[in-house]
Amino acid sequence: MAQEEPVTSVVEEGVAVIRIANPPVNALSAAVRGGLKRAAEAAEADPSVRAVVVTAEGRTFIAGADITEFGKPPVPPTLPEAIASLESLAKPVVAAINGAALGGGLEVALGCHARVAAPGAKLGLPEVKLGLLPGAGGTQRLPRLVGAAPALKLMADGNPVSAEAAKAIGLVEEVAEDVVGAARALALRLAETGRPTPARDRGAPEDREAFEEAAAGLLKNADNPSVAACVEAVRAAFDLPFEEGMAAERAHFLRLRDDPRSKALRHVFLAERAAARIPGLPRGTQPRRVERAAVIGGGTMGGGIAMCFANAGIPVTLIETSEENLQRGLERVAGNYATSVKRGSLTEEARAKRMGLIEGKVGLDAAAGADVVVEAVFEEMGLKKEIFGKLETVAKPGAILATNTSYLDVDEIAASTSRPADVLGMHFFSPANVMKLLEVVRGKRTAPDALATAMELGRKLAKVPVVSGVCYGFIGNRMLARRTAQAERLLIEGALPEEVDAALNAFGFRMGPFAMGDLAGLDIGWRIRQATGKKAPVADALVEAGRLGQKTKRGYYDYSADGRTGVPDPEVVAIIERVSAEQGVTRRPIGREEITERLLFPMINEGARILEEGIAARAGDIDTVWLNGYGWPAVTGGPMFHADSLGLPRIVGRLREFARASGDESLEPAPLLVRLAEAGQGFASLDEKAA
Ligand code: 3HC
Ligand code: NAI
Repeated sequence: MAQEEPVTSVVEEGVAVIRIANPPVNALSAAVRGGLKRAAEAAEADPSVRAVVVTAEGRTFIAGADITEFGKPPVPPTLPEAIASLESLAKPVVAAINGAALGGGLEVALGCHARVAAPGAKLGLPEVKLGLLPGAGGTQRLPRLVGAAPALKLMADGNPVSAEAAKAIGLVEEVAEDVVGAARALALRLAETGRPTPARDRGAPEDREAFEEAAAGLLKNADNPSVAACVEAVRAAFDLPFEEGMAAERAHFLRLRDDPRSKALRHVFLAERAAARIPGLPRGTQPRRVERAAVIGGGTMGGGIAMCFANAGIPVTLIETSEENLQRGLERVAGNYATSVKRGSLTEEARAKRMGLIEGKVGLDAAAGADVVVEAVFEEMGLKKEIFGKLETVAKPGAILATNTSYLDVDEIAASTSRPADVLGMHFFSPANVMKLLEVVRGKRTAPDALATAMELGRKLAKVPVVSGVCYGFIGNRMLARRTAQAERLLIEGALPEEVDAALNAFGFRMGPFAMGDLAGLDIGWRIRQATGKKAPVADALVEAGRLGQKTKRGYYDYSADGRTGVPDPEVVAIIERVSAEQGVTRRPIGREEITERLLFPMINEGARILEEGIAARAGDIDTVWLNGYGWPAVTGGPMFHADSLGLPRIVGRLREFARASGDESLEPAPLLVRLAEAGQGFASLDEKAA
């Protein structure tokens, strides 16, 4: 919550220290911009002030523009105006960068006449990650300070640099523990020698060569429109006088800010952070301590989950049924780490440390010392119940008992122990050591502090945790099932696998459903269908023909060339046509737009049901699941945000048409979807109400 006076100024021994306190991250809200401008004017007017220091309270200096203000009517002063009021002071102004200086925050520092940073501070221009470019002079001041090529790199990759690295490129003058003290001293020295004149020169020709080379390299692989805008804006620092360069930057900034892609990326940022808040948690709920972990089952998932713990520095015991299975699991883990070392993404030292944190044991008794136990054995209810039953006596009191089940009822698993309050789902995604998503499944009897522990642990494991209620498939797989069913139907009605995949590729998914299925193995879905009595005639026929995907070199595609590159296969066409004929379906050409809508709208519909049932607390949580677990393209913001952008009436209308054409009632629009569409509202309106 913002305080009354987010910017204060105290004059001491000739120096006005302007201090920003706008928790949590000192974002540049209208009140902060106004406060900065007033404080600058007051410092100029006060004859006892010889120099000025700008600093902030808390862990960050300034995290940039206030992302929540974008899209609302602008309130003066603008950030460029507030910064100009600092830069134009006749008295020297020094930034005391006490923590992260990001985006507009770094631009404030660039508008000061010199900069001192604390040792742990990070400095960066992450605007590209929000589909923007630095819009408060960063593209004009930074090249003049550190050179155009290094400046372009900072803004085009968006990754911050350390205080030391910033000093090495001349971005800060000093790195000092007592950052305000050092900034005061520097400010007073500058008051003696005369305040530096802000650089207004155009870039030097030799600097330009390096810049154009860097720009050409960046533009070659960039599909983000922000990168091109950064290049053009920095180029303006060579071609145009400062003021015109500023105007060019502003024009780019406003254009990008109003681009739907930037709007979507801002939603992604805020939705991910909102997902961390657990609704209905009693005030003051404290997470339990987690110092040791155990993972039961060292297969595909268990090994990856153990790696997550080790990567986070948490000692973990990997538990298997036999010495042989255990060795296989541990070898796979060792192999993964060895590959990372070979690729250069992990040092040998870090590898040894991580492997040292993983111990292997046979038998459940080895779970006794763990504060959290994650079960990742076969997907069989009987087996899981047996294990949770045993854990009741083995696990230490208060240990979190988590299951990695994909579909099974977490409440039923919890009922097999006398401590259901400790039980919840921690649903990792494959490969578990890579994928960011973690669905934390809250059972009916899960204790609030157990839930808080799993969410906090998820963040420690570098995951994006999202709370889901108990239902078949939770949030992600439940929606995916709708897409999978439509993908199969599209084949029967007339589409080919490559057409279906191409439609989703064009939408922005890196993989379509069939390429994905081939990669994962078609036997997985087949086994689930066998167990649940469901049918998918094309998929079943492929499996029955021995086509299990990449692992058998044949699935929806033919992989015989190199085992990894799939090409369309006439045999698959024959199978599909046979199924169509058996079903009495006259095949027809299906256009890309229809394919896309048939795949995505039923998912959105299921998302609406998930929201209505309270399985997900917010539409943004559903988006966060799809963005981090299923490769939904960030520039469209996730399924529910995308639905709002298209307009819900259109989705309702199309779903009704699909339902009518197919006779499939599950395609009828969900009541919530219809209600919102009729009220002229979107899913976002629900999240605003909830917040
Ligand atoms: N505006 C508004 N709110 C922000 C914010 C911002 N720029 N940055 C962070 N927040 C909020 C988060 O939403 C979160 O709110 P919540 O507690 O209500 O959910 C809270 O601050 C804490 O954020 P994190 O959970 O991310 O905290 P961390 O400690 O993990 O990270 C951080 C801190 C590194 C500062 C990280 O928040 C971050 O990277 N922030 C965004 C930085 C950014 O993109 N800045 C550029 C903005 S665009 C700009 O400046 C345009 C300019 O050029 C004109
Ligand atoms: P897997 O078959 O690769 O591994 C399971 C392992 O559990 C085997 O190594 C087996 O020896 C071991 N095991 C069986 N009984 C045991 C016991 N009593 N004690 C100790 N170990 C035992 O299976 P996978 O793919 O790793 O799946 C595990 C769980 O994770 C399942 O519930 C699955 O639904 C879920 N899951 C799987 C995903 C995937 O993509 N494979 C994704 C997300 C969840």
